[in-house]
Formats: sequence, structure tokens, C-alpha cells
Amino acid sequence: MANKSLAKNHADTCVLVTGGAGFIGSHTCVELLNAGYAVVIVDDLSNSSEVAVNRVRQIAGLVPDDPRLAFYKANILDREALDRIFSEHDVDAIIHFAGFKAVGESVQKPLEYYWNNVAGTLVLCEVARDHDVKNLVFSSSATVYGEPEFIPITEDCPKHDATNPYGWTKSMLEQVLSDLYVGDNEWNVVLLRYFNPIGAHESGLIGEDPKGIPNNLLPYVAQVAVGKLACVGVFGDDYDTPDGTGVRDYIHVVDLARGHVAALDWMAGKVGTGEPRGLGSVAGEPAADGTRRGVGIFNLGTGTGSSVLDVVHAFERACGKTLPYEIKPRRAGDVAINYAACDKAREELGWVAEYDLDRMCADSWRWQSMNPDGYASA
Ligand code: NAD
Ligand code: WQD
Repeated sequence: MANKSLAKNHADTCVLVTGGAGFIGSHTCVELLNAGYAVVIVDDLSNSSEVAVNRVRQIAGLVPDDPRLAFYKANILDREALDRIFSEHDVDAIIHFAGFKAVGESVQKPLEYYWNNVAGTLVLCEVARDHDVKNLVFSSSATVYGEPEFIPITEDCPKHDATNPYGWTKSMLEQVLSDLYVGDNEWNVVLLRYFNPIGAHESGLIGEDPKGIPNNLLPYVAQVAVGKLACVGVFGDDYDTPDGTGVRDYIHVVDLARGHVAALDWMAGKVGTGEPRGLGSVAGEPAADGTRRGVGIFNLGTGTGSSVLDVVHAFERACGKTLPYEIKPRRAGDVAINYAACDKAREELGWVAEYDLDRMCADSWRWQSMNPDGYASA
């Protein structure tokens, strides 16, 4: 029933990052390395490239075989592979990004999504438990709020039915991970509900690299700007919002990545004075070494809403061109407005998002123009 202790220096702490070659994972690995942690990436490269791992090394100033960053091409559903990795590294905590994330595809392929996201997480947690690793940060999503009951959305806002299998996997996994603590009070779980992550590292070396035609607004706009796509389709201009287009809380991926570093310090009892609160949070008795136990839930957003047209115009400023756009019908399942209350993360994690929409678009443009075909440009 033991758990690895986080009551030590970052330099002595090893973080296993599933999905660490992906968009948010790669940026988080950079911030973890900057903060002094040792990092082990497990990624099957189903939606990413090993080039991203090499770029993380480059940004962090590591030589290729530096022991502070290990990479394994492995699927989290592969129990034997995971078991070997946990045997080879003295893992203290897990940041779990690995999963499929395309909303529309999840409607067509529910079995693939439930297997990969839900079953994959179950295998990961079982193997972790077998190695006494019970500190876990999970990538959840604002999607769990469904049509939000109020704006800005606090962590107390009731969860609503998901509108697609992807959203259900996030909602279900929040429940699974909360139940782990209820069944075994050694678990120390943080559920981070991301709003809309965009942008890229300021070096232009890592960023979002969607396969095929992007589903999300920012990569679509970026590909119009670089000349790969002709025109931005704006999904609806008749919402009850200031300019009629949908409003979202866009957050710079580097800010988001730093939120994970803050969450680890919070789990270690190094920041934050209060107890976990918010619907579904469970405040556990701190362990003898001062580290936390329980389930903490945090929104990671900026608290600012931007419309689709705000984004198009910010990107125009970033790339110095006018971008063609065309109003299209609303997209099924979209809500009008969605933005976060970020007080809890500020008060408890000591974390706030620093970068504004112009900076997000400037960094996104640098990544896109330096790598017009993503990592395939390398
Ligand atoms: P991403 O696709 O870029 O990263 C996910 C990574 O996981 C990829 O590198 C992929 O190869 C890997 N992966 C997938 N299944 C795997 C498996 N079974 N075993 C090993 N590796 C596997 O996506 P992202 O945008 O970086 O998202 C990271 C996490 O954050 C996901 O869980 C996603 O659902 C969640 N999230 C993303 C957003 C967003 O808008 N990007 C918003 C909220 C939550
Ligand atoms: C943003 C706004 C669109 C594309 C999704 C997931 C969510 C989370 C984040 C993972 C909306 C509009 C979009 C386009 C457009 N992911 N739009 N033209 O839908 O807020 O959130 O990513 O957890 O679960 O649903 O993000 O970027 O798709 O859309 O007008 O080509 O841009 O209608 O208003 P969304 P998005």
C-alpha cells in the first residue's frame, strides 16, 4: 500500500510522461526539464513523431544520451512494455497525456477511443500501482462541463453528459481516478481540465502537428496563413456573443505546460495551503512526509474569452497578411461561450497564465512558418 514520496528535490524526482511526444506533452517535458526533473517519455507515436523528442532535448540543452530524458516508443496498452519501463526507472510520478483526442473521429470509432483512452489508463494505473507509483496528473478537459451551467466556469460547475465518446472517456476517467483514491488512500491524483491550448514554444522548434485537415480552429487558421489551406470556415455567426461567433478560452501551451509543473509541486505539498475543493475533489489527510493525498481538480485556462473572429484577426497581426474567411453553418455539438474561472489554480497552485492571444498567435505562426509540414519538414 506504499506510494513513492515527492518530498524531495526536483533533481531527484523522475516523472513518467505518457504521450510526451505529443503537442502538450512535448511542451510539458521542456518545462519539467527546465525545472530540473528527470523525464521518461512513453509514446507510441500514433499521433506524433520522434523528431519532437529530439527537439525537446535540443531546447533543454541535453546531449542525445543524457540520462535526464529517456524515450520509449511503446503503447500504454502494452502491459509488459510498461512493466519493463517501470522496472528500469525509479519513477516517482506520472503525467498522463496519452490518448486519442479527435472529437469527430471518436463518434465514428467509439471502440478505438474507449480502448485506447479508458483501457489504456487502466493498464497504466495497474502497472503503476504494482510499482508503488500512485502520484498521477491527468489531462482532463473543459469538455466534461458539457453545456456549462454558468460562465466563467468554476471547478464546482456540475459536469454534464458528454456529447461524444471522446468527452465520455475524459468524464469516465475522472471518475476512475477519483475512485482509486477512495479505494486506496495512498493515491495522490490531480485532474487538470484544459480549456483550448494553442501556440507553440517560442523557439519555433515544437508545436502542434495535426495529421490531415485540422479539426481545431488554430491549426486550421495557421495552415491558411502558410498557404496550405484556402480559407477559414467560421462555424456560425449567429451565437449570442459580441460578434456572433463562438467564444473560447485559448491558453498558451507553454502556460499550460507550466501548470503541470505547478501541480507536481502542489502534490508534493510544496505550494498551496488549502485543501482540495470543488465538485468531486476529495481532501485526503496529508502523508507523514507532508505530501498530499486525495483528488485535486483544477481548471487551466486564462479566464478570457476570445471569439473566432478575434482569433482570425490576432493571427493576421502575427503573420502580417489578411486571411480569407467564410461564414459556415454552426458545427453540431458546439457551445456558444466557454471560459474558465482560474482563481482556484491561482490560489492553490500559485499558477496563472501569462501569455495573451497575440503572443499565442505569434508563437504559433513562428512554428508553422518554420515547419510548414510539421515534423515532416525536418
Ligand atoms: P496529441 O495527440 O498531440 O498527444 C497525445 C500523444 O499520446 C501523442 O503523441 C500520441 O502518439 C500518444 N498516444 C496516444 N495513444 C497512445 C497510447 N495508447 N500509448 C502511448 N502513446 C499514445 O494530443 P495533445 O493535444 O497533446 O493532448 C494531450 C492530452 O490532453 C490528451 O489526453 C488530450 O485528450 C488532452 N486534452 C487536449 C486538449 C487539446 O485541445 N489539445 C484539450 C483538453 C485535453
Ligand atoms: C474553437 C471555436 C468552433 C474550427 C475542442 C474539443 C475540446 C477540447 C479542445 C480536447 C469553436 C470554431 C473551429 C474551424 C471554426 N479538446 N471553429 N472553424 O471545439 O472549443 O474544443 O478542442 O479535450 O474537447 O471539443 O475547439 O478549436 O475545434 O473550436 O469556426 O475550422 O472555433 O466552432 O467556436 P473546441 P475548436
